Amino acid sequence: MNIQKIILALGLAGISIAARADFPEKAVTLVVPFAAGGPSDKIARDVAEALRKPLGQAVIVENTTGAGGTIGTAKVARAAADGYTLLVHHIGMATAPALYKELSYTVPDDFEFLGLINEAPSTLIGRPTLAANSFGELRKWIIENNNKVNLANAGVGSASHLCGLMLQSALGVNMTTVPYKGTAPAMIDLMGGQVDLMCEQATNAVTQIEAKKVKAYAVTSAQRLKLPSMAEVPTLAESGLANFNVTVWHGLYAPRGTPSDVIAKLNTALRSALKNPDLIRRQEALGLTIINDERLEPAGHKKYVTAEMDRWAKVIRDSGQQPN
Ligand code: MLT
Repeated sequence: MNIQKIILALGLAGISIAARADFPEKAVTLVVPFAAGGPSDKIARDVAEALRKPLGQAVIVENTTGAGGTIGTAKVARAAADGYTLLVHHIGMATAPALYKELSYTVPDDFEFLGLINEAPSTLIGRPTLAANSFGELRKWIIENNNKVNLANAGVGSASHLCGLMLQSALGVNMTTVPYKGTAPAMIDLMGGQVDLMCEQATNAVTQIEAKKVKAYAVTSAQRLKLPSMAEVPTLAESGLANFNVTVWHGLYAPRGTPSDVIAKLNTALRSALKNPDLIRRQEALGLTIINDERLEPAGHKKYVTAEMDRWAKVIRDSGQQPN
């Protein structure tokens, strides 16, 4: 390359860095790969609200649903790597590669990691008309009814699907799964009695449990929820399913190739957002834990998701679930 081209290239690079010095100059979009009103959507809207001040721009949430969250995730993988289209996603980021033969994106290579947001406990809930009043009674009913039991989820690869997979594997049953575009629409059918059971993140489940619109049978995470209304709800591990633990983490992502100075700005803004007292109050009131360790750094976030891919690939293999 001759000296003129080098000078031109350096000049263009300089213009590009200078232009990014003002990033963000327009609204930033957070893509959520599940339906509005679900736990992923609620967490994304919470984070969007808290990002507005540190970014000094509007932050818009856009729900792109379908295929257990892989359609919205693929959309961000293909988006311009300019920091204006980001993804809020959960453990599905780590599990989809083991559940889908043909994914149009690769994890971790097709993404930049902007920081892990929180860990959300999950619950096992049932329609209000179920006769069982404890997990022990429910376990007996599930085993007796097996494939006649309708288990709702948000599609293959969703947190509710993975939790359901582990539950069926632990009980040695094969329930009929009913997929939705998110657990928000599924919750409506559960409360209406159209489906029998669902694993749902505490973010969405606690309100309906407190309103007695669904029955709480267990917490699927390792620890009970520290909320007064949930103190008596045992974990599945306490209820005889040893080592059962489905905790749903959520992270923030950008397309591969997003400039490092933009990644640094977005990570700084996320760290500031997660210190927002209103966000902390809202999320902790639902039993969520805000991340405040090395996983909030891009490198730590990427290392964690990569390790989770290996862990979940084994769980999925052991469950006998064949890739879609
Ligand atoms: C949702 O937001 O609908 C849930 O996170 C879906 C799921 O993963 O179960």
